[in-house]
Amino acid sequence: MKRIILILTTTMFLLISSCKNEIKIPMAATIAAAKEYQGKEISSEFDVKINALIAQMTIEEKIGLLHGNSMFAIGGVERLGIPELKMVDGPLGIREEISKNSWASAGLDNDYATYYPAAGAVAATWDPELSYTFGNSVGQEARARGKDMLLSPAINIVRTPLGGRTYEYFTEDPFLNKKLAVPFIVGVQKNDIMACVKHFAVNNQETNRGTVDVLVDERTLREIYLPAYKAAVTEANAYSLMGAYNKFRGDYLCENDLMLNKILRDQWGFKGVVVSDWAAVHTTVKSLENGLDIEMGTPKPFNEYFLADKLIQAAKTGEISEEEINKHVKRILNVLFQVKAIEGKDRTEGSIATEAHYKDAYTIAAEAIVLLKNDKNVLPLKLEGINSIAVIGNNATKKNALGGFGAGVKTKREVTPLEGLKNRLPEGIKINYAEGYLERYAKNDNNQKAEVTLHGPVPVNELDADKLVEAIEAAKNSDVVIVFAGSNRDYETEASDRNNLELPFGQDELIEKILDVNPNTIVVMIAGAPFDIAREKEKATALVWSWFNGSEGGNALADVLLGNINPSGKLPWTMPRQLSDSPAHATHSFPGDAIAEYKEGLLVGYRWFDAKKIEPLYPFGFGLSYTDFKFSDLKTNKETYSKNETIEVTFNIKNTGKLDGKEVAQLYISDPESTVQKAIQELKGFKKVFVKSGTTEKVILLLPVKELAYYNEAKKEWVVEPGIYNLKIGNSSRSIASEVSVTIK
Ligand code: BGC
Repeated sequence: MKRIILILTTTMFLLISSCKNEIKIPMAATIAAAKEYQGKEISSEFDVKINALIAQMTIEEKIGLLHGNSMFAIGGVERLGIPELKMVDGPLGIREEISKNSWASAGLDNDYATYYPAAGAVAATWDPELSYTFGNSVGQEARARGKDMLLSPAINIVRTPLGGRTYEYFTEDPFLNKKLAVPFIVGVQKNDIMACVKHFAVNNQETNRGTVDVLVDERTLREIYLPAYKAAVTEANAYSLMGAYNKFRGDYLCENDLMLNKILRDQWGFKGVVVSDWAAVHTTVKSLENGLDIEMGTPKPFNEYFLADKLIQAAKTGEISEEEINKHVKRILNVLFQVKAIEGKDRTEGSIATEAHYKDAYTIAAEAIVLLKNDKNVLPLKLEGINSIAVIGNNATKKNALGGFGAGVKTKREVTPLEGLKNRLPEGIKINYAEGYLERYAKNDNNQKAEVTLHGPVPVNELDADKLVEAIEAAKNSDVVIVFAGSNRDYETEASDRNNLELPFGQDELIEKILDVNPNTIVVMIAGAPFDIAREKEKATALVWSWFNGSEGGNALADVLLGNINPSGKLPWTMPRQLSDSPAHATHSFPGDAIAEYKEGLLVGYRWFDAKKIEPLYPFGFGLSYTDFKFSDLKTNKETYSKNETIEVTFNIKNTGKLDGKEVAQLYISDPESTVQKAIQELKGFKKVFVKSGTTEKVILLLPVKELAYYNEAKKEWVVEPGIYNLKIGNSSRSIASEVSVTIK
């Protein structure tokens, strides 16, 4: 693995003697450009052994490798020393063990794991090194559990703010997406675990996910929806990818020749395996020939899978050649060798739910929290003179490691916001807790279970009268109020998209009534996707965004509220004022019906808001700090570049406030002279930088000119247009501090 070492020098002080006093003048130190992550290539060193194994295998043994023999494993061949390939979900950490033949829990008492912050939180750190930390940490946990493949990361683009899996995905931006995906995968695979990058591809909605046919033009596909997958293959060398449920241009993604054979293998050189999403396979011969390697599924006899008995039959009748089958078996054996599952004498053993891993979860959580509003610097909380704090809201105590339809984590540690505050507040301060709103859902006809519709569970939005009185009393009788609002993992869930952006369970009304009795109210959102928080933005004194933030989420949150951590998270997607401002909704192309045509094309996320001049509630890349930063001296190392060069962009960030803090410098480029449609600006570089109060750091960002390319459909290649490009530096997509131009020859 090649890794360029990051040179990080601390702020240096130049001591200058004046006549009488010694004056300390802080001088800019240099923060070098970001580390590049590169995964170990899938080598061909085992080819001879693989061919020898294949020569000894029966057709049944071969096909045993091509489909699940239980919920999360494929068959091995014991007599030849080929083990089962064991898989595990997923994005929040290592999933609890489930039964071999059903989704029921296996009922073990040794399958606890660290609950890591959800991908949205990782993206909000804007820190590829933390993504690597996550991958490495969770990779160790996968090994400790004896697994070979981790079904993660999930890197679909956040196309609609309503997406049920938004919390599981990183971002709306392809550049941020790939810069986070690559280190994550490298971190996972360092531990002799295959990362399974999902869900390939254009799986951007849960509604009709099993049937919908996505239509997206070629340029948008290449520029928005595929870059992170491509980087996962060509830079991170991911060992596996998961084919998505939906169709793309008429073919299911697990039998999509264009995506699996042409793009993934022929164009990107992928050598790993393609695993189907669970029960996403529809054909036998077509799936295999079009690039699928392994079929996984949900309960039914495993021999009834498309790549099981039916495939044996097809092989016997000559409908498919043994050579074709061998090709897939070879790929699977190869990745088993790569992670030392075969002949793995020095395979890493890993560790799980250790203090070191909880610390990783804490660090990510702390860096992910986004400060959205902070009137009169009410945060961090100044405790002098404060005797009591009202902690209000079901989310103060709600746990999110498990919940909803998707994979979660069984964990021994999930510090809730209330527990975090109790852990961190000095003893003299009284906490007046009130649940405020109840997490309630409409019941089904026999009034038993929550009714689950196309839009997931239906929330009951009436407040409970007693709970409301209790909350108002707590607010009245406390010096400060913190409302923990938002959603949870039952409400934001796989398999459905939300119906609207409203806060569920009557929270708007609750918050309004609390603000009436105590204007000194801070609102903390715990959620994984955008919500309509316009009222909260207007009326609360401070607004903080936290996430499904892992085992240590409550401690991290308390540390931010109390100022032990200076917040540095930035939104990884645009928060719209209203749904109709968002591109997929403005173009009425969500959720579609049999077909979902992505009519907004390239203008996904902030690209749309910029082009249509729509003011978002909070823009992409936004997040405040308890200190202030000033950008200056933006320059490039040259004025003119040729296409193979790299632009060295330097600038200074000064911390002009009283607290040390981290700022995310964001580099956006625009191409005013373009002959084709381009977004007004596109993220093409970023760096999170620690700057001590009163000092200045000089930052270098490296921008390869090839990053300026657009995908030329006619030529079928990436083209950098010559001309002038503007490079803009700022701390959100809507807060640009300065701009410089370069010419590309
Ligand atoms: C999800 C995948 C997951 C798989 C196995 C599917 O429903 O889409 O992300 O890895 O189930 O749990």
